[in-house]
Amino acid sequence: MKDQHLKAAYSVLPHHVAIIMDGNGRWAQARGLGRVLGHRQGALAVRRTVEEAARLGIGILTLFAFSSENWKRPQAEVQALMSLFVRTLRSEQDNLRSHDIRTRVVGDVAKFPDKLREAITEVEDATASCGGMRLNIAANYGGRADIMQAVCRLMAEHSALAAPPDEAVFTSLLQVPEDVDLIIRTGGERRLSNFLLWQAAYGELFFSPTLWPDFGADDLHEALQFFASRERRFGMTSAQVRGHRE
Ligand code: IPE
Ligand code: IPE
Ligand code: MG
Repeated sequence: MKDQHLKAAYSVLPHHVAIIMDGNGRWAQARGLGRVLGHRQGALAVRRTVEEAARLGIGILTLFAFSSENWKRPQAEVQALMSLFVRTLRSEQDNLRSHDIRTRVVGDVAKFPDKLREAITEVEDATASCGGMRLNIAANYGGRADIMQAVCRLMAEHSALAAPPDEAVFTSLLQVPEDVDLIIRTGGERRLSNFLLWQAAYGELFFSPTLWPDFGADDLHEALQFFASRERRFGMTSAQVRGHRE
């Protein structure tokens, strides 16, 4: 797609894009390969997508890499994913910094092996002063767990408040403390799988049949075009949104 075309199409670019990167296993199985090879190929799609999103000027990109429910998978697959995370975080660190991408891992990282926690700290420290796109990697993340830890923080930190806190205060206590504008799910399923439940309240949903390892710039552009074509009404009438009187 030509840049000029893009500019016109994306007069409204979502500030916060979140992606449920699904379909690695099916991608591998369709080729007679083990699921882990699908995850490896998926890591290359992460790199492509992150670079393209940063180039386009997306403010925040949140990627669902491992859910709080994914521990239920066979141990060998979970272990392979942990090793892949370590390798990918290490190998991508310089690239992320050179693209000025501030990277954070969100989720309950305390449950991860030491090596992975070290790699997370390294990439977060190495990119802490970057001022470009913000990248959240959701790992051992669950939307309900995020809400629960915010409730616990609220009880601990705000118990002395006379008035009940408002939604903005509650949002600020979440691990991902921003509403999401566009949620993309690859792989054909149409569900949130416990991702960003609070933050997705008014997010536009884009479901792509593309399996995550095949996802590329064109698929991202398709999702952004879909977003640009939506009228976000937030409960109002279409006429109100367009500034017309009924
Ligand atoms: C998403 O792909 C990656 C993770 C959940 C870690 P899947 O592994 O869920 O792929 P499918 O859905 O089985 O094809
Ligand atoms: C959601 O995918 C989690 C990630 C993409 C990391 P799953 O493949 O785990 O979701 P379900 O189990 O099919 O809902
Ligand atoms: Mg899946």
